[in-house]
Amino acid sequence: MTGQLRHMLRDDDISHDEQREVLELGMRFRKDRFYHRPFDGPQAVAVLFDKPSTRTRSSFSVGVAELGGYPLVIDKAGSQLGRGEPVADTARVLTRMTSAIVWRTFGQERVEEMAKYATVPVVNALTDQFHPCQVLADFLTLAQLRGGVDALEGMSIAYLGDAANNMANSYLLGGATAGMHVRISGPNGYLPDARIVADAERIAATTGGSVLVTTDPAEAVSGVDCVFTDTWVSMGEESEYAIRSKPFRAYQVNDELMALAKPNALFQHCLPAYRGKEVTTSVIDGPQTAVWDEAENRLHAQKALLTWLIGKQRGDESLLS
Ligand code: CP
Ligand code: NVA
Repeated sequence: MTGQLRHMLRDDDISHDEQREVLELGMRFRKDRFYHRPFDGPQAVAVLFDKPSTRTRSSFSVGVAELGGYPLVIDKAGSQLGRGEPVADTARVLTRMTSAIVWRTFGQERVEEMAKYATVPVVNALTDQFHPCQVLADFLTLAQLRGGVDALEGMSIAYLGDAANNMANSYLLGGATAGMHVRISGPNGYLPDARIVADAERIAATTGGSVLVTTDPAEAVSGVDCVFTDTWVSMGEESEYAIRSKPFRAYQVNDELMALAKPNALFQHCLPAYRGKEVTTSVIDGPQTAVWDEAENRLHAQKALLTWLIGKQRGDESLLS
């Protein structure tokens, strides 16, 4: 097999089978954190942040170190990128010194530009549009707690709240890729872009999944295996706090809505969570919550993703499964 440069910029950058490979690798890392050390030496992975982070920062830092590499964590304030150096120039420099570039930033076009000029894999660690690493961790959590990677196909999931944000988009594309029945629910004005829904529907048609976008939260959660939510005010939207608190109230994940899902349904939230806003304490701290496994799974899923991307680039089959 010849090497192939691959990136993870949005959830549909990997196919159904490739997503399964990454998640199976993630399950192996869950069992044995040190079973692969693909970097095997002092190779650096650049981890760039234009926005705050706790989980992504810690999971990539620890994960790269556990893979045998060196995490080179650079914050916006401490980089020339933050002073306006072109993304293309940053890519040309980092690509000569690192084995992969992981970036949390604003517009999706910025990670696309990085990938255009990098000759190492580029990973989206959250943009305004997508958060694919989170969805891999969330699906790994479902695999962990509900019967393995094989069990994902045909599962029903619901996401409630800000249905126009990065998490909603990533559940649409990632869920459709997995062959899930994805239901997204939020108020009018905060529903997903029609182009992303169309992309998800096109993928779902090939995987046996389906897509439903509805303003009715009860319809969305009815009989699902897992209910997801996220903050109503994403990073960069802080000035909209007052106008955003009202329209989402009917989409708060509370005991009444959870009662409409399957009796053993799980609750997940990418975190940070705002108790009393998008979720009640009774749900996020209650018996159905999976949020702490979900947070830990960021580590395993991203180690799997980096290992898989490096395996693809090297053409090394042994790293892919
Ligand atoms: N879920 C998530 O990405 O968390 P951080 O913002 O803390 O990285
Ligand atoms: N939608 C949230 C996710 C945080 C991990 C944000 O972008 O701030």
